Amino acid sequence: MELFQAIRERRSIRRFKPDPVPRELLTKILGEALWAPSAMNTQPWRFFVLTGEKKDELVAIAGRCIAKLDIRLRILFKDNMRALVHGYFRDLGGAPAVVVALAREPETEGYMDDSFQSVAAAFYNFVLLAHEAGLGTCWMTGPLWVEDELLDFLSHRDGWRLLALTPVGWPDQVPPVPPRKHADIFWLE
Ligand SMILES: Cc1cc2nc3c(=O)[nH]c(=O)nc-3n(C[C@H](O)[C@H](O)[C@H](O)COP(=O)(O)O)c2cc1C
Repeated sequence: MELFQAIRERRSIRRFKPDPVPRELLTKILGEALWAPSAMNTQPWRFFVLTGEKKDELVAIAGRCIAKLDIRLRILFKDNMRALVHGYFRDLGGAPAVVVALAREPETEGYMDDSFQSVAAAFYNFVLLAHEAGLGTCWMTGPLWVEDELLDFLSHRDGWRLLALTPVGWPDQVPPVPPRKHADIFWLE
């Protein structure tokens, strides 16, 4: 698949088939994703893959963020859409796996943004490579509302921050394409 095509056709998937994703496939994709650039080549990432009971426990914790998110949902969405979002956060669309990306806190103050950007580069590599392999993902930062609880669950409360998480699995939907707005590109000569 051409990179252009992968970027254009990837969609956020929020409903999955229950079939498991082979461990070897996820290992391969994650390994490739780590070829991302990173600030000062720090490679400040740690990826977790959760399946089975551990995945269910993590999803239950992540789902608690909905109480906070709901304040914004009430402003942005109608009731039926709000109900859909609530349903999705309950089980992350039935995905058989969840990938969580953590960013290391740097030893020097003022460099956390570098760390976040480096991990985001690797995370997006993962999302695109998963799409190329036929897998669905949905980049999620809503669970940042319960970041401390998630870090505790992963035993990484000290020295690590949550970048994002994503359900991973075989898509069970073809979502509509959210239209892109205009190109915010400015050439200065
Ligand atoms: C940084 C970031 C955070 C996001 N957080 C969430 C989230 O918490 N929950 C969710 O359902 N989707 C989340 N999304 C997915 C966006 O809603 C989605 O990318 C956008 O609507 C465009 O749709 P598309 O990904 O299918 O092109 C997030 C995407 C990004 C890049």
